[in-house]
Amino acid sequence: MAGIVEGKVAIVTGGGGAIGSAIARLLAKEGAKVVVNDVGGSVFGTDQNDLGPAQKTVADIKAAGGEAIANGDSVSSWESAQKIVQAARDTYGKIDLVVNNAGIIRMASFHKMMPKDWEDVINVHLHGSFYVARAAAPHMREQKSGAFVHMASTAGLVGTLGMANYAAAKIGICGLSRSIAIDMGHFGIRSNAIAPAAHSRMIDATPNQTPEMAARIERRQRVQKPEHIANLAVFLLSDAAKTINGQIFGARGPEIYLYNQPRPIRTLFRSGGWEPKVLAEQLPQMLKTSLTPLERTGDVFSWDVDE
Ligand SMILES: NC(=O)c1ccc[n+]([C@@H]2O[C@H](COP(=O)([O-])OP(=O)(O)OC[C@H]3O[C@@H](n4cnc5c(N)ncnc54)[C@H](O)[C@@H]3O)[C@@H](O)[C@H]2O)c1
Repeated sequence: MAGIVEGKVAIVTGGGGAIGSAIARLLAKEGAKVVVNDVGGSVFGTDQNDLGPAQKTVADIKAAGGEAIANGDSVSSWESAQKIVQAARDTYGKIDLVVNNAGIIRMASFHKMMPKDWEDVINVHLHGSFYVARAAAPHMREQKSGAFVHMASTAGLVGTLGMANYAAAKIGICGLSRSIAIDMGHFGIRSNAIAPAAHSRMIDATPNQTPEMAARIERRQRVQKPEHIANLAVFLLSDAAKTINGQIFGARGPEIYLYNQPRPIRTLFRSGGWEPKVLAEQLPQMLKTSLTPLERTGDVFSWDVDE
């Protein structure tokens, strides 16, 4: 039986990591030819010069009878992103599917966050997603088909301590994804985002602030697998998802979520406008029950996933 992405050519950035490798392997199993892109290196974005993780994913794909090549160019510059897309075109003749998944973290309380930590994280996630998508876009436009999936995060959608750089990049990626969907939808090109939750070294690198958090991470290791994220990603990349564009999903173990996207929820009208003093008198009381609480991811996802 033909796979759900049979004959498609895909790029998975960060394809040597936990979620990227699962997506690349499932894409190949479902009939795609895959460029597994990964610079290797630490979760903090240092020592990025190891093709080993990408080659390991490629070896797994080939062992299962699939087609893939490894690519070690970084997503975080215009020139090297062009090379990633060129590798797909040189080897397989086209580019159909792009998964913007490469990522690093650098945690710091906001008042201690340094420009280097800000820039490096934004460069890989936000700039990298733009560079790779932008390198693929003209080819998709020409062939009038294509699909993107970008990895977002609840750090941006909800909030997490000490991750201003990462949260800003991830919420930016949602804007990028939606803009691609709006700009390119009428050429038959789709773009969706996933905020994943799966065990990986990235989760291990997040400091456990409490014993409860450590216990949750241990449970996550058992229940929340990268393969769960891959199932949703591969569906969204396939033509079976042709009616789904510009959306934000979540995936955590066997649970899948569809996120809302910001819309005005209340309107205050005052003929002649609102002076600050009038706002001070009226706004806090009028909007009191509608303000978004300053919850963090763990508050919103307060239940654990079943196996
Ligand atoms: N694991 C989770 O629960 C979770 C939660 C929210 C978001 N995410 C996002 O999912 C994606 C995958 O994360 P993961 O958990 O599998 O982490 P991971 O560390 O296992 O994988 C990330 C991969 O990206 C690669 N990479 C880093 N910089 C790169 C660059 N410049 N060019 C190419 N490759 C690069 C790394 O070498 C690594 O293999 C990331 O975007 C991450 O932010 C993960």
